[in-house]
Amino acid sequence: MKLAIIGTGYVGLVTGTCFAEMGNEVVCVDIDAQKVDKLKNGKLPIFEPGLEIFYERNRREGRLHFTTSLEEALPESEVIFLALPTPPGEDGSADLSYVLGVAQQIAAWMAAHPEAGYKIIVNKSTVPVGTADRVREIFESYGLRASEQFDVVSNPEFLREGVAVEDFMKPERVIIGTRSPRAAEVMTLLYEPFVRQGNPILVMDERSSEMTKYAANAFLATKITFMNEIANLCERVGANVDDVRRGIGLDSRIGKQFLYAGIGFGGSCFPKDVKALAHTAASHGYHFQILQAVLEVNERQRRVLVERVAHYFNQQLQGRRLAIWGLAFKPNTDDVREAPAHVIIRGLLDYGAELSVFDPEAMENTRAVFGDAIRYASGMYEALEGAEALLICTEWNEFRRPDFQRMRQLLARPLIFDGRNLYHPERMAQMGFEYYSIGRPHYPPHVNPSLDLLENITDGKVDA
Ligand SMILES: NC(=O)c1ccc[n+]([C@@H]2O[C@H](COP(=O)([O-])OP(=O)(O)OC[C@H]3O[C@@H](n4cnc5c(N)ncnc54)[C@H](O)[C@@H]3O)[C@@H](O)[C@H]2O)c1
Repeated sequence: MKLAIIGTGYVGLVTGTCFAEMGNEVVCVDIDAQKVDKLKNGKLPIFEPGLEIFYERNRREGRLHFTTSLEEALPESEVIFLALPTPPGEDGSADLSYVLGVAQQIAAWMAAHPEAGYKIIVNKSTVPVGTADRVREIFESYGLRASEQFDVVSNPEFLREGVAVEDFMKPERVIIGTRSPRAAEVMTLLYEPFVRQGNPILVMDERSSEMTKYAANAFLATKITFMNEIANLCERVGANVDDVRRGIGLDSRIGKQFLYAGIGFGGSCFPKDVKALAHTAASHGYHFQILQAVLEVNERQRRVLVERVAHYFNQQLQGRRLAIWGLAFKPNTDDVREAPAHVIIRGLLDYGAELSVFDPEAMENTRAVFGDAIRYASGMYEALEGAEALLICTEWNEFRRPDFQRMRQLLARPLIFDGRNLYHPERMAQMGFEYYSIGRPHYPPHVNPSLDLLENITDGKVDA
């Protein structure tokens, strides 16, 4: 099939590349000329594991193209995916100007080129309930007839950054929101190669499809937030959230995933999608109480480490050197949008701390935000030199089994605030670290020289 993907960001680029991998001919469009230039010249603008191999192969074989020109992409394309930003507006609602603006451009072009034939416009962006109807109305306002000349489909994306290619190639489910049998058939044909193992393609109406995406993200954000609240309470009652997590995760109604306590959720999706759903509810006269609580608790949770560090040093952080490991909002991505680490950096800078940071992939994106206000270390150990404490903000694998002796030598104080619960609290104390984590006991340091350092690991996180 011939496809156009409008918006070549984290979702659009993965979508286009994976469709090309299945033999489709794909044109990716973006208004960011620099990004398109890079892509045309064989350079990926984002870090996403597994993407490069598919990107290179499909470009080489002529199935994957990049352009800044919408007009160039439209004539041949049978299905046009919108993978455009839907950032939060001032009031928390999703800003639809990108989606509706591009829909308008496509409709105008199609009205002027009736010979181009039937096309399906697919909303892959996360958009509020009713957006497919609004897009259809735009096309109708140009005199175009639904089901004959065009159809609008809602096809929300559930990929997770960091495992996006894997998720796209083997989705647990595909949601297709359309009441047009013609569009449903084309979309099913397109997605069948991705669900050969029997995962379902669910066809439903547009509004239910749009709601499914928000319900999924809001539920996941709630699940994480619930666990963060349990962790906070564990600290106060002397329980260990790791044990509680295992204890409840074995209940199949609860499940093991997404139960890891930490420093709050971030990223380009959960915060904005929870806000947008709350806004949708409010605009329909419904007070969606849980969502308000999730947003409030998460805001608080993202500052937990800042408050803890400030409390430890009696609010005296002015000029104090602190190290941060992990800047991306989660491991295996360079994405720093709404990253808890950035909230923490801002909080510590407000206190006057001097920060030395390291992340395997997100340094450049962090530099674009903080410029010279912080120091960028060239490696994880360099970040520690002379620091009075280490804060761990992202659970990259390489932080899980570090050289603890080296860390102790480099740090001015053997003090760690771990926002991701990477290490075993008691073992850390035995190695002489003062170690604070989330929802778990704190043990006073008492060095035990016979300890095997490599055993000092908890069973690792599995959630992406
Ligand atoms: N990132 C995720 O993990 C994820 C997962 C599921 C759904 N989503 C949703 O997918 C949508 C896109 O998210 P993303 O993370 O890929 O965003 P992104 O910011 O990475 O990418 C959007 C791209 O659209 C381009 N763009 C903006 N206006 C344009 C225009 N007029 N014409 C062509 N290109 C234009 C931008 O330059 C950018 O490259 C959002 O609605 C998001 O909520 C994201």
